[in-house]
Amino acid sequence: MADHYFTAAPASAAEQRELIVQVGGRDVAVVTASGVFSPDHVDTGTRVLLDHVPDPSPGEFLDLGCGWGPIVLDAGIRGAAAGTDLRLWAVDVNERARSLTAANAVALGLGSVHAVEPGAVPSDVRFSTIWSNPPIRVGKAVLHDMLSTWLPRLAHGGSAYLVVAKKLGADSLLKWLIEEGGDEFPARRVANAKGFRVLRVDRSA
Ligand SMILES: C[S@@+](CC[C@H](N)C(=O)[O-])C[C@H]1O[C@@H](n2cnc3c(N)ncnc32)[C@H](O)[C@@H]1O
Repeated sequence: MADHYFTAAPASAAEQRELIVQVGGRDVAVVTASGVFSPDHVDTGTRVLLDHVPDPSPGEFLDLGCGWGPIVLDAGIRGAAAGTDLRLWAVDVNERARSLTAANAVALGLGSVHAVEPGAVPSDVRFSTIWSNPPIRVGKAVLHDMLSTWLPRLAHGGSAYLVVAKKLGADSLLKWLIEEGGDEFPARRVANAKGFRVLRVDRSA
């Protein structure tokens, strides 16, 4: 069976490729590989997210479902430029994705990125910022479970930004987030571009 991008250990050979991509407002060289999400370019949804998020707040930052790392690299470059004290976490179930993210972070001088499997983030870590292009294709139940695991780990006053294609159910996901989050985790749409919605979830201060 062909690998999905969310396979834990892709069976296909890791055909690596070097790309020049724009992240954090700079053109940088990164390494990607087959068996991970969007290996040939920064995905359009990811680009929409990065174009609509404010700079990350100081503290712990999470890239939920990091792939080869464009989101956490963008956050790290922006944080370094602004002198923001960030501790960068990137989680993915795909081990090839984690290795690429870690290598790309080191190559860009962002050595402090912890690219780990989801269960390896210490349970007391609370995030001031979460950015994610979440894996919609895993199915609604898994996606809801994933968001129910990570959004409650926002610090008080923290914010999560998620990008979801309208045709893949962004509006119904927002409805679910509003219902589930209630007053403590208010959710709303903050941008709409190129067929994608950017959704924001805050944790009350
Ligand atoms: C849509 S891709 C986005 C990848 C990358 N952030 C980007 O923007 O190119 C979603 C990622 O979530 C990962 N993923 C799937 N299930 C996951 C889970 N339960 N926990 C963490 N990551 C997961 C997939 O392996 C995939 O790399």
